[in-house]
Amino acid sequence: MLPLLLIACELPQQSSHTVLPASDSKGAQLMKKYCSDCHAPPSPAAHTAKEWPNVIYRMQERRRMKAYTLIDENEERLLLDYLKEFAKS
Ligand code: HEC
Repeated sequence: MLPLLLIACELPQQSSHTVLPASDSKGAQLMKKYCSDCHAPPSPAAHTAKEWPNVIYRMQERRRMKAYTLIDENEERLLLDYLKEFAKS
């Protein structure tokens, strides 16, 4: 029984409720804070490290349009570090 459970936990999470990698990290917390206003935080594996800065830029523009609190410079850096660490290769 136990080995089976362990295997189940290692399956990739692709359900609608995205389980973020390192879910207790600062980066994952920022994802929940700044993405959930509009949609479930996407998996960092949705984009490559090279693509993420543009996506975050676009999402920041969307926050601006809605007059939501903007992601500050320091948080943006942490968010990008996090996304890049778990990005698609
Ligand atoms: C103000 C609303 C809003 C917020 C906040 C927001 N998004 Fe989005 N996001 C959208 C909308 C609308 C779309 C669909 C249109 C598009 O792709 O631009 C989208 C689509 C996406 C997509 C799929 C399209 C693509 O380019 O891959 C990704 C990935 C994404 N968002 C990432 C994020 C991340 C990461 C955050 C948090 C840092 C975030 N979003 C926060 C509105 C938002």
